[in-house]
Amino acid sequence: MKKVVLVFVFLLCNQSIFSQKESTVISFKNNESAPIINRNIYGHFAEHLGRCIYGGFFVGDTSKIPNTNGVRNDVVAALKDLKIPNLRWPGGCFADTYHWKDGIGPKENRPTIVNQWWGGVTEDNSFGTHDFLNMCELLETEPYLAGNVGSGTVQELIDWVQYVNFSGKSPMSDLRVKNGRKEPWKVKKWGVGNEAWGCGGNMTADYYAGEYRKYATFMTDWSNSDNIMRIASGANSVDYNWTETIMKNIPGNMLGGVALHYYSVIDWGKKGEDVNFAEDIYFKTMQQALKMEELVTKHSAIMDKYDPKKNIALVVDEWGGWYDVEKGTNPGFLYQQNTMRDAVLAGSTLNIFNNHADRVRMANLAQCVNVLQAVILTDKTRMLLTPTYHVMKMYKVHQDAKLLLISINSPLYTLNGESLPALSVSASKDKNGLVHISLVNVDSKKANTVVIDLNELGIKSVSGIIITSSKLQDHNTFDNPTKIQPAVFKGFQIKKGKLELEIPPFSVITLEGK
Ligand code: AHR
Repeated sequence: MKKVVLVFVFLLCNQSIFSQKESTVISFKNNESAPIINRNIYGHFAEHLGRCIYGGFFVGDTSKIPNTNGVRNDVVAALKDLKIPNLRWPGGCFADTYHWKDGIGPKENRPTIVNQWWGGVTEDNSFGTHDFLNMCELLETEPYLAGNVGSGTVQELIDWVQYVNFSGKSPMSDLRVKNGRKEPWKVKKWGVGNEAWGCGGNMTADYYAGEYRKYATFMTDWSNSDNIMRIASGANSVDYNWTETIMKNIPGNMLGGVALHYYSVIDWGKKGEDVNFAEDIYFKTMQQALKMEELVTKHSAIMDKYDPKKNIALVVDEWGGWYDVEKGTNPGFLYQQNTMRDAVLAGSTLNIFNNHADRVRMANLAQCVNVLQAVILTDKTRMLLTPTYHVMKMYKVHQDAKLLLISINSPLYTLNGESLPALSVSASKDKNGLVHISLVNVDSKKANTVVIDLNELGIKSVSGIIITSSKLQDHNTFDNPTKIQPAVFKGFQIKKGKLELEIPPFSVITLEGK
């Protein structure tokens, strides 16, 4: 009998041990000095590359695909729902080959251009300045134009600024009116070249800084207030010398932002497949993606030396996962599918940007439609929303909200003797007092449990949305476009003001508390 009782007690003890999950506590720090998360962190990128513009955004006004002035209505509706704050155009590498005057006036008179960087295809310039800026109005988004410094001239760029921005009488504004647009578009965001260290002209940082000063001197919004935002072509990944040289040599009043480009690539020679990847490849992709934390920290620290008041923004105007193109597609078109790996990558990266909102005030996912980590894929008349789209939509609540400073000691995700932080979190409070907390579990196998003290945040009730699936490689296809979509998240309980939630492996959650 004694033996039976002992076994029973042992089982009971064990039972309680097993039900006590290891949990990670997320706590909130003093928030007085926290910045606002600039909505422009949620920007997008549209380059003349593959099927991004032609077939993606633009089908022409004679297409049987429903469109407004040639722009697909389905794409516009989906992007409006995402509340995209800005859209960068026309490149990328394409920008430094683009001569904007070829893309205005009657379409039948426009010269062609050979897209030397992307597949060598010949374009008819049917999507030009008016088409793009009118499309931005349709999307209710702010245009971000990338000027041609590599193969253009100062005169060509300042003519473009005058063409789109000047309301008075001038040669360029007269031309704009003749082409059917009376009011200027008043474009504020201007990139002064792209990747000047590479496809933008293979310049040294010193040489580019001199070129920038020259271009920026003549670029104005033509209102005598000079309030356009000029953005310098920035560093490639860890090129800290580039940022240092730009910051040292360009006067602060000429610089609105300094760019940074970083793609999560496991190996530039062998990027790996978009869908058929193994767990070790997923791990390596996430290793690369999480390096964004170190990059923005170190580039920001350099900027702090020259600009302690943080007037100049760090603009990560190209980021995302980059894999080998989908089999059977043009290698120059950079078309790839988008899986749960991309959802995790997007959530983790956006958490990094949110948490660095004091300096990272603009970013552009590369790219918007049919290229790299796209939020939308199209196939003739059909369109699908990718897992990355759904993450961007879940995160739009952070746009212009006040960052909440967080402290977390993440558990590790370990594979083959290497480790990564398994959890990534960011949070904000919007102007209506709603708190949003976005959490990513990077671990591919293990669910992680998190505890948040709601009393600290003055929250009484919580709801949540999750993106999850059974396999990392899962994705939406044109035949099954809703395999992955957000669902209501119920995996939490509130006990004595403490929220305990279990985040499934490779999933992204956004909670709303009030
Ligand atoms: O996004 C694809 C290309 O990557 C861009 O054109 C270029 O700026 C970068 O190298």
